[in-house]
Amino acid sequence: MTSFAALLPRPVSVTPAPGTCPWPSTVDVRAASLPPEGYRLEISPSGVVLHVADAAGEVYGRETLRQLAGPSAFRVAGFAPGELPCGVVEDHPRFAWRGCLLDVARHFRTKAEVLRFVDLLAAHKLNVLNLHLTDDQGWRFEVPEFPRLTSVGGWRPSSMAGSGGAQDGRPHGGFYTGDDLREIVAYAAERAVTVVPEIDIPGHARAALAAYPSLGAESSYEVWTAWGISTSLLSPNESTLDFFRRVFDHLLDIFPSPVIALGGDETPGATDDHREFVRRLAEHLVARGRTPMGWDEVLDIPGLPPMVIGSWRNEAAGLRAAEAGHDVVMCPEQHVYLDHRQAEHPDEPIPVGMLHTLEDVYAYEPALTGPRLRGVQAQVWTEHLDSVRRVDYMTFPRLSAFAEVAWSSGNRDYAEFLPRLRDHHLPRLDALGVEYRPLDGPYPWQTRPGVPGRPR
Ligand code: ACM
Repeated sequence: MTSFAALLPRPVSVTPAPGTCPWPSTVDVRAASLPPEGYRLEISPSGVVLHVADAAGEVYGRETLRQLAGPSAFRVAGFAPGELPCGVVEDHPRFAWRGCLLDVARHFRTKAEVLRFVDLLAAHKLNVLNLHLTDDQGWRFEVPEFPRLTSVGGWRPSSMAGSGGAQDGRPHGGFYTGDDLREIVAYAAERAVTVVPEIDIPGHARAALAAYPSLGAESSYEVWTAWGISTSLLSPNESTLDFFRRVFDHLLDIFPSPVIALGGDETPGATDDHREFVRRLAEHLVARGRTPMGWDEVLDIPGLPPMVIGSWRNEAAGLRAAEAGHDVVMCPEQHVYLDHRQAEHPDEPIPVGMLHTLEDVYAYEPALTGPRLRGVQAQVWTEHLDSVRRVDYMTFPRLSAFAEVAWSSGNRDYAEFLPRLRDHHLPRLDALGVEYRPLDGPYPWQTRPGVPGRPR
């Protein structure tokens, strides 16, 4: 039987009681006045009563039940016979925004893979999927009015292999139809996950420029086959603005999220006209009743409406954003970029970025506090993650550690967390088929591509 001490993320409080409850058992769900997304789970020998604040509270109460039912409950949800410990779990999240960015632009992930990723977020009580849909290397969002965005912008002939500059010569691409994305949104909503879509402007837009060169200053562009920061920016004129207003309008038709992300990061050579272009698109989203989200570079733009700022370059940007009256999601690359390497061992595959060990991620504590802090977000950029297996390897178990940062209040003790993760949570990930990084280093088939005798 799984004990309450095995729960991850750790709940607000647990009061164990004598006895056990057979599982499966009836679950009576009752509305109650509890903190948002909260639940109170009462397990007795005669059954389970789940008091919930709202639909999200029910999702989280059931996730907790699933963990208590043991790893086999992750193989056949709800049907694994066994028993539950008796007692009461009271729980609600620390932060309202418990996010993870998934970059499906650099490497496309199929719809089925995105749905699976949503399941994994919900299993960790994370509630925002920030879906990075467009970038220099690919445009993944079908817009019927502008079909070349996906017929041209969704494909590239080759990709940079690793970070060394050589090309792999292998075509890559894919995109989501409106129906695909509506399905992802609905599937996520059932699991209390909001999909916050991102269309990145005015940089990170070479795929759009390749599709419609008149959006830029040059006569032709190619979907980028390299990684890095491109100097190609959208031309900040009225016709480009009109084009992107229509693109965003179509995005709003599909994504009900109150927050819509417009990027704004890494725009070398940007002028005041580019800044005004971003501001006007932000205003467009506000006029449509949504809150724009931008990366912290947009703080240099005068006259911005109130936004959600993703503080990624450092912690100070988040403090600055809050002072300027914006809400903030803390996602600093110094702490929560899960594409960055997780050990210094030479066998780590494509060990880019800064070192972020499991312990580092577990220890992350945002510098900003107070009402402007909406929450925290981990980031899975995929330049070097060309398969769902590689995404699994970089994301887990660090995202499991991050989930506790986002959900659980109070002190965190890595010495307590580590055995809980190893003995109870990794078996859950195993049952879910997640190819996480083992705690003592990669399996041979997970090591650095290109090492002789090892698979590329
Ligand atoms: C970012 O990592 N460029 C937001």
